[in-house]
Amino acid sequence: MVSYKDLGLVNTREMFKKAINGGYAIPAFNFNNMEQLQAIIKASAETKSPVILQVSKGARNYANQTLLRYMAQGAVEYAKELGWENPQICLHLDHGDSFELCKSCVDFGFSSVMIDASSLPYEENIALTKKVVEYAHQYDVTVEAELGVLAGVEDEVQAEESHYTKPEEVIDFATRTGCDSLAISIGTSHGAYKFKPEQCTRDPKTGRLVPPPLAFDVLDAIMEKLPGFPIVLHGSSSVPQEYVDMINQYGGKLPDAVGIPEEQLRKAAASAVCKINIDSDSRLAFTAAVRKVFWEKPGEFDPRKYCGPARDLMTELYKHKIINVLGSDGKA
Ligand code: G3H
Ligand code: 13P
Ligand code: ZN
Repeated sequence: MVSYKDLGLVNTREMFKKAINGGYAIPAFNFNNMEQLQAIIKASAETKSPVILQVSKGARNYANQTLLRYMAQGAVEYAKELGWENPQICLHLDHGDSFELCKSCVDFGFSSVMIDASSLPYEENIALTKKVVEYAHQYDVTVEAELGVLAGVEDEVQAEESHYTKPEEVIDFATRTGCDSLAISIGTSHGAYKFKPEQCTRDPKTGRLVPPPLAFDVLDAIMEKLPGFPIVLHGSSSVPQEYVDMINQYGGKLPDAVGIPEEQLRKAAASAVCKINIDSDSRLAFTAAVRKVFWEKPGEFDPRKYCGPARDLMTELYKHKIINVLGSDGKA
């Protein structure tokens, strides 16, 4: 048993309380490799922003859970080296799909876990979430649960269409499970293709897709039922069109990739939404930078020469999100 407290990590409890009171949101960035982690920590240290490092099942399969945890532990020391005296870094399991997986993360030094039982029937979601909460809380590890289903792919959880969270269920769910935060469905979705063209309109000037707005009425109704309760938004990449253009310009093919407009995320961050998950935007920045180097210097074969620019572009992206979208700069 390893306690996250001995690794210099923190859980989400205080982070979320301050974020709700302060009208900002904590960035939750996924990482799968060293360059992403370096960029996240550098951006967080330079802006003094609390940060949640997310490890998905896919990341565990790709990079190995043991290695990722040691990397997160190393990240705390790296943050201090960068001059961040009191780093507020949480290590979080993203989309945990079983009690066993959540338990293994709690036992291994994670400070927060998500149990995503949102694809199960309501009562089964409650039962599994409650079981994880009861275990995790013994070690002061915080638990995120999910109610409602996002469109697209949630690791291995598939949903044909999104089912918005039902506000009439949230009090019962939060009370009976004891979860610390709740991921809700109000129209966000995972990946770089969040909306089908038929769900969007098209900007006549640019020809780009304009996505439908998030269901802020559903968010408002949830906040009314659970005043001050931490709400989480998954699938919150904005799919910056400059990265999509770069990728397409340098030999890629991402037609009609579209995300959540940043002004809508800013509006959400000012409310009880206190954790905003971003993964795809980092993948786009990485890919855009690597493609540019490969296109312009086909003779390059030193990974540092293309992963370095990718890391720089991701650092810029994370800083932009922290300062201009989430508003978490200067809060740690
Ligand atoms: O919610 C999904 C995250 O973007 C993680 O995706 O399972 O491909 O690592 P992944
Ligand atoms: P994006 O695919 O929009 O980046 O969402 C990431 C996410 O929700 C991770 O859990
Ligand atoms: Zn997610």
